[in-house]
Amino acid sequence: MARDTLTIIDNRTGRQYELPIEHGAVRATDLLQIRTAPDEPGIVSYDPAFMNTASCKSRITYIDGERGILLYRGYPIEELAEKSTFLETAYLIIKGELPNAEHLALWTHNITMHTIVHENIKNFMDGFRYDAHPMGMLVATVGALSTFYPDAKRIHDPESRRIQTHRLIAKMPTLAAFSYRHSIGMPYAYPDNDLSYAGNFLNMMFKMTELKYKPNPVIERALDVLFILHADHEQNCSANAMRSIGSSQVDPYSALAGACAALYGPLHGGANEAVLRMLQEIGSKGNIPAFIEKVKRGEGRLMGFGHRVYKNFDPRGKVIKRLADEVFEVTGKNPLIDIALELERIAREDEYFQKRKLYPNVDFYSGIIYQAMGLPVDMFPVLFAIPRTAGWIAQWLEMVQDEEQRIARPRQVYLGPQRRDYVPIDRRPEQR
Ligand code: ACO
Repeated sequence: MARDTLTIIDNRTGRQYELPIEHGAVRATDLLQIRTAPDEPGIVSYDPAFMNTASCKSRITYIDGERGILLYRGYPIEELAEKSTFLETAYLIIKGELPNAEHLALWTHNITMHTIVHENIKNFMDGFRYDAHPMGMLVATVGALSTFYPDAKRIHDPESRRIQTHRLIAKMPTLAAFSYRHSIGMPYAYPDNDLSYAGNFLNMMFKMTELKYKPNPVIERALDVLFILHADHEQNCSANAMRSIGSSQVDPYSALAGACAALYGPLHGGANEAVLRMLQEIGSKGNIPAFIEKVKRGEGRLMGFGHRVYKNFDPRGKVIKRLADEVFEVTGKNPLIDIALELERIAREDEYFQKRKLYPNVDFYSGIIYQAMGLPVDMFPVLFAIPRTAGWIAQWLEMVQDEEQRIARPRQVYLGPQRRDYVPIDRRPEQR
């Protein structure tokens, strides 16, 4: 009869072990019993970059990379992008279910009431150089929030966790917009709590001397949809950073600063910025074949292509492509879209990309749409960090309440020298 176990024979000793399989996984700690002698260490699993290691049990986001499926708490991303709002989706991700009207109103109120930041934050931001990258400012400033809210250290108190959740979701757009205004030497624009989450962000970015900023409804909705698409993506590099740092039981602002820093890298949330710079460098459709050949020779990557999990179309990319047409109706077409479409066509017909299952990911088109909306390139990773805050918090909340979790501490396979005696400096061999 079939059993949910895995039998391992250790050929060094001839011993046989039977390990339970639960939810398609074996526990790495079960391998510890496999040893050659009682005083020898058991074997460990070696998995650089977590290619096939589950670090947690999660109920938040599901990805089927082979079939291009993305679900938040079971709901398909395409349906949420069409029917939901970012704040409703954030509630779903964090609390597990869609809210009823009363709960949504209360949630929206609680977040809206926390959009203002302490005035000292402005002084803190003024300390950055005039041309500081807004993402660097965001990383530092969100970490600095922990000094304003020392109560956040009480991570085992559900009420404290609830308040930090509201504060973080509410204040990230404010910090993000302030960092942009600083980088262009404009006075900070304060939050307008009459506006929607996305509308208020546009207000803080672009308000000039008018008494009341009125966002364009098409741009406001498009930004809200982009926020929905970026809200969570299970155990990616930054979510793993959030969990790993949070596992030390530090406050969520400090952990989230680390997650933001992870997102900044060009292989993660910095990719859309890199895509735009790549498209600008290619410059025209005629230069695409030469660029593709360069990538195939290993001289650089086709940014916005490839994914650790998706070996098919990224479903978020499909939504963004549709959204781009609506935005271009208002803003006029971004000429880079033609280069991007041609680049995608040529790459998808090329054996190099087919063989490696490299498809466009969410970042391939998101930069083009952000740019058409008037959002500057330096702000792209920041625009990713705002909605991803909902996902990072959900991952952190799940981790904090998971009784199986402890401080994250991987093992290593040590290959360095064995114990040896210290050599005085005059007796050390010459080094070249
Ligand atoms: N362009 C050219 N070749 C690529 C690309 C690319 N964008 N991505 C992967 N490859 C090639 C690699 O050279 C490698 O080829 P090889 O087997 O001949 O050595 C093969 O495909 C596998 O690539 P890995 O780097 O091993 O794949 P990994 O899963 O580690 O990397 C990643 C995934 C980082 C996303 C990678 O595809 C990449 O660098 N893409 C470009 C950056 C990007 O768009 N990042 C955004 C990701 S989505 C997000 O974070 C929101």
